[in-house]
Amino acid sequence: MDELVIKKLDGYDKTVECMPDKSMSIRAVLFNAYATGKATVRNLLLSDDVLSAVECARRLGASVELDGNTAHITGAPFGSCALDCGNSGTTARLLIGLLSGLNGVFTLDGDESLRSRPMRRVTDPLKKMGAEIYDTDGRLPVKLVGAPLSGLDYDSPVASAQVKSALLLAGLNAAAPVTVREPWLSRDHTENMLKAMNAKVETNGVVAQIAPSLLYARDFIVPGDVSSAAFPICLALCAGGRCTVKNVGVNKTRTGILDLLIGCGARIRTENVRDGIEPCADIVVEPSTLAPFEISGAIVPRLVDEIPVLCALACFIDGTSVVKDARELRVKETDRIASTVAALSALGADITATDDGMIIRGGKPLKFGTVDSELDHRIAMTAAVAGAAGDGVRILRPDCASVSYPDFYGEVIGVD
Ligand code: S3P
Repeated sequence: MDELVIKKLDGYDKTVECMPDKSMSIRAVLFNAYATGKATVRNLLLSDDVLSAVECARRLGASVELDGNTAHITGAPFGSCALDCGNSGTTARLLIGLLSGLNGVFTLDGDESLRSRPMRRVTDPLKKMGAEIYDTDGRLPVKLVGAPLSGLDYDSPVASAQVKSALLLAGLNAAAPVTVREPWLSRDHTENMLKAMNAKVETNGVVAQIAPSLLYARDFIVPGDVSSAAFPICLALCAGGRCTVKNVGVNKTRTGILDLLIGCGARIRTENVRDGIEPCADIVVEPSTLAPFEISGAIVPRLVDEIPVLCALACFIDGTSVVKDARELRVKETDRIASTVAALSALGADITATDDGMIIRGGKPLKFGTVDSELDHRIAMTAAVAGAAGDGVRILRPDCASVSYPDFYGEVIGVD
């Protein structure tokens, strides 16, 4: 589809099943592909990014059979090959870490957006461990020649789960422990899942450590993705409506959006909390009057992917909302400070970019406009939310939503 026109909604009242978690789906595939044994992963997200991870796992030698949302994975010793990570930064960075200590020669590449994203944040510390890595000016394509790795004690300059995960995965095959210290705690799925697969992982606040370990296959049921739930939640709040999102993963390192929204007055309840590899719950949103918000400091990594849609929501809140300390947005699938400002400005929002965030003066009506997704899934979905709750929107290149949310427009917006 070249473009999609979304009309202004007349109220919002929806119950949706949450899309499965993208981060955990990719990890469940890659970790089990590498592990010894067979595993079944249920509720796998069948999105473009996860399918890129599945294709990489197969090329590396593992068997991955998909039966609807269930994956049957048989691990195998990884062999030399060329890998296409598509649009998936998580697949690329985690594989760079995992493969750098293995025997073989591996090349990793991706689409135009992924080729523009920084890889030195993982390759520099890996080189300190002895990895032999040839990159392209700090970016993909990257060639790895497996080498013996030493241990590492690393103070990461960024709170990034992809950096932390790449180093912990390299630590599986290092000669000594790998310790990673972050400025703020990023999502901890890798730590939880590796522990469940027999790895010697220890965590203490912002510090994660791994000792060399064998990984054993492990069945997982992937919980829903709070980053996907953010779209119906914010649409309901923008439109003064209500929604229920079922089966949402509520790992504390991911639920910054719920804490932020409740703190500014949103009537949000978490019901029916269940335990699993990570906790899961239903989220109920009721019509609410919100105060403006400030996003800064330690909460940033807990809601980093939700910032574009939170900025859309800020357009509907009287007063000035501020995002700070979020320079990491500049190196996502697009420069998400620039692309969020461009998308919402096209709809008449009063939003300005700062070096490390945005300022939104909300409470002014949005108007119909045209937004180019720039092929960034979260920008396409943010434009859809702002347009549906505002005065409509024409989205150019809307299909990229399938990177994380297949059938987003049908399920969340109600487009036929
Ligand atoms: C992810 C970590 C985050 C997030 C990305 C997924 C992961 O990136 O933005 O969508 O699965 O580890 P960073 O690690 O670069 O912060």
